[in-house]
Amino acid sequence: MTDISSMEPLLPSDGNRRLEDLVAELIEKASRFAARLNPVLHRELGDLVRFMNCYYSNLIEGHNTHPVDINRALRGDYSRDAKKRNLQLEARAHIEVQAMIDRGEMPHPVVSLEGILWLHREFCIRMPDDLLWVENPETKEKLPVVPGELRMHHVQVGIHVAPEPEVLPDLLRRFTEVYGSRGLSRVQRLIAVAASHHRLGWIHPFMDGNGRVMRLFSHAMLRELGVGSELWSVSRGLAREVKTYRDLLMAADEPRRGDLDGRGNLTEAGLSRFCEFFLASCIDQVSFMESLMEPAELLNRLTVWCEEEMLAKRLPRGSLPLLREAVIAGEFARGQAVALTGYQERQAGTVLNTLIKKGVLVSPTSRSKVRLGFPEDVVERWLPRLYPITN
Ligand SMILES: Nc1ncnc2c1ncn2[C@@H]1O[C@H](COP(=O)(O)OP(=O)(O)OP(=O)(O)O)[C@@H](O)[C@H]1O
Ligand SMILES: [Mg+2]
Repeated sequence: MTDISSMEPLLPSDGNRRLEDLVAELIEKASRFAARLNPVLHRELGDLVRFMNCYYSNLIEGHNTHPVDINRALRGDYSRDAKKRNLQLEARAHIEVQAMIDRGEMPHPVVSLEGILWLHREFCIRMPDDLLWVENPETKEKLPVVPGELRMHHVQVGIHVAPEPEVLPDLLRRFTEVYGSRGLSRVQRLIAVAASHHRLGWIHPFMDGNGRVMRLFSHAMLRELGVGSELWSVSRGLAREVKTYRDLLMAADEPRRGDLDGRGNLTEAGLSRFCEFFLASCIDQVSFMESLMEPAELLNRLTVWCEEEMLAKRLPRGSLPLLREAVIAGEFARGQAVALTGYQERQAGTVLNTLIKKGVLVSPTSRSKVRLGFPEDVVERWLPRLYPITN
């Protein structure tokens, strides 16, 4: 029978220099990135990155929902094909739950039983019924996934036999005590983000959806620590190295390998290795997003694109200064279009309206300021490799 000591150690021993260095690098890179971007651009890009995050998090599960279909789902346009429609709903669910986290609407501390159940509940209540069943691989019995409820059946993840349902409350109590402890230093808390990702997978609290909940949980923890933001997500990193992610999760489930491998029931070396991978993936993603959104680089790519469009007569002359202003200033008043383009009011208005019509500039009302928009057809040019456009 599993008891709470079965999942020890919950944290790698103190004084692990590699982990401490990775944490220091993550804090430094994440704060530099956060300070650099214009706040208005920040908001627009947040939507795009949430979108990307859901694409990657579901991809890890093997659910490949094309970005075009996710976009349609966000507009309420669902496929007639039931399978595709289900995946669209699933993608939308992921985005909505992350948006609540990012807006600070999580009603419980992240590291709490209530917080974890809330994540699962909010994600699952948005899911189509078809996706709320799992099949027992041996008996073929169909078992329901109840939103926000701990599982009542045994499960196995790969070769790991997850703990018995009866001990889940005790394990989660210990889990939240340790990872939510006020006694942890900032560095330890960030190592705890990585370690808890594995231990939550090991506990496997729910019948299904554990992976998505784990990734949303880690995202929320990073955000709570002021390191995570809506502008980057570790899911992209995990999805790009999904085999290593799975292998290292699995390796950290193994029992302690002798006297030099910590003092718990499970391998400490395996846990540290997983934490290294997780933190390095975070650093990678911050760096990638930083380079992608670096204002000068973004401006270069946008300029090249705009010049091509003007040459092909798909955009009117005078478009570039308006787009540039949106990148540099974040937003500008419509009245500024005259000064920016050097055109007469009417002509400047035509240019502005063409850009709004194309979605590259957005403005909630006909009087409000305009900001940069990111319609599907330009994302790959302005922000290459944000997500792979597959067919
Ligand atoms: N050996 C393991 N140890 C700990 N956690 C694991 C292990 N193998 C897989 N996991 C985690 O469990 C998840 C799968 O669990 P489950 O099917 O309940 O989640 P999901 O959200 O439906 O799927 P997915 O995570 O694949 O999107 C994996 O994504 C991974 O995050
Ligand atoms: Mg699953």
